[in-house]
Amino acid sequence: MDKFRTYDLILKKRNGSALSKDELEYLVEGYVQGAIPDYQVSALAMAVYFRGMSEEEALFLTEAMINSGETISLKAIPGIKVDKHSTGGVGDTTTLVLAPLVAAAGIPVVKLSGRGLGHTGGTLDKLESIPGFQTDLSVEELIRAVKQVGVAVAGQTKSLVPADKMFYALRDVTATVDSIPLIAASIMSKKLAAGADSLVLDVKCGSGAFLKKYEQAYNLACLMSGIGNGAGRDTVALITNMEQPLGRAVGNALEVEEAILTLRGEGPADLEELCLVLGGWMLCLAGKTSDPEAGKALLEKLLANGTALKKFQQLIENQYGDSTVTEDISLLPRAEKKVPVQAVKGGYVNRLEAGLVGMAANALGAGRETKDSKIEPAVGITVEKKIGDRVGSGDALAVMHVKSKTSAEHIYLAKKKILSAYGIEDKPCMKPRLVLGLVDRKGRQV
Ligand code: URA
Ligand code: CA
Repeated sequence: MDKFRTYDLILKKRNGSALSKDELEYLVEGYVQGAIPDYQVSALAMAVYFRGMSEEEALFLTEAMINSGETISLKAIPGIKVDKHSTGGVGDTTTLVLAPLVAAAGIPVVKLSGRGLGHTGGTLDKLESIPGFQTDLSVEELIRAVKQVGVAVAGQTKSLVPADKMFYALRDVTATVDSIPLIAASIMSKKLAAGADSLVLDVKCGSGAFLKKYEQAYNLACLMSGIGNGAGRDTVALITNMEQPLGRAVGNALEVEEAILTLRGEGPADLEELCLVLGGWMLCLAGKTSDPEAGKALLEKLLANGTALKKFQQLIENQYGDSTVTEDISLLPRAEKKVPVQAVKGGYVNRLEAGLVGMAANALGAGRETKDSKIEPAVGITVEKKIGDRVGSGDALAVMHVKSKTSAEHIYLAKKKILSAYGIEDKPCMKPRLVLGLVDRKGRQV
């Protein structure tokens, strides 16, 4: 006889009570083993969507999900291992910069990344636009690579958190993806299973993010930080602005180029700033510096003296890529044509909706519609004007990087999206704040 009846647990959640650790373990195990059918888990997910979960409940769910598969031990690598996770945005190039930057400070960085469905590829797709770069490492190879050069970026192994793969696919078709506790458990189970001691979470907020409103992003940040710290991993969550794309480049090879420029100290100010802030926290959690500001100051030096760029070269070489791309950007895949999108009137940019720019990049082939579709590494968009910038009528707002085979219809569609992403007013407009809030073990700052 089973310990519980699934029906009773659905009813309990539907009526607003919290499920216990044992009950959540029963549900997750039963689902993964095929003993509990999809329709019951769908009903449960919907009940969670409406009733929410306490922090403790979300932690129990996360732990039950972790127990559905293997976990990675990073004990063979000396030192405190800090991981970083972003909830995803448009042109979010941070991992490409942060991984070598933080490793340059002597902190081991083990990055498991996804490909993801989205406007552009994920971090793995971006790195694979570097000729020869391999992301398909076993756990042993990953650990060896980190011991050799202090940093490695690889794909998630299939054996981590199988419950999440099943559960996410179900949520996707039952309108229960955007439930804060389910998102938190999904992300945190994968992060905790990957073995880092401490975590810095970048919770994106705005039109280009999964969560559009500050309050939702703040709640997710609180819950993920609570789960991480509750699981004994020092966790900090920053809530950052994704109203407009980060940096200028949106597209796979274009973002690699942007990362190289940033590591040379020639990158866009917002991308550099976000990398320094997140990296400062990573150094602080790793015990390298006593506070995040000191971490940031150290990273500024490592950018300026070329150490961070050198670390990126080592990372590329160690994963069989051609590291001369860092000196000669023309070795990256390039689109044949550049098509500017011009402002129809002059003024100041007061809106640049990241979500629409992402859709435009996707229309050009930068992203993936389904798991099996191919991305086009060279295509994408560079935004020339951002919120607060002055524009003259006819100035290029953005440039589309297109292949000669890209159809006129797709180019037209992308151009329309870009034009609709921009708002231009006569009045000057401030540049938006980048870091909107912070949640750590000790408390919450809005
Ligand atoms: N990303 C995840 O990994 N899981 C979610 O549920 C949402 C975003
Ligand atoms: Ca970018």
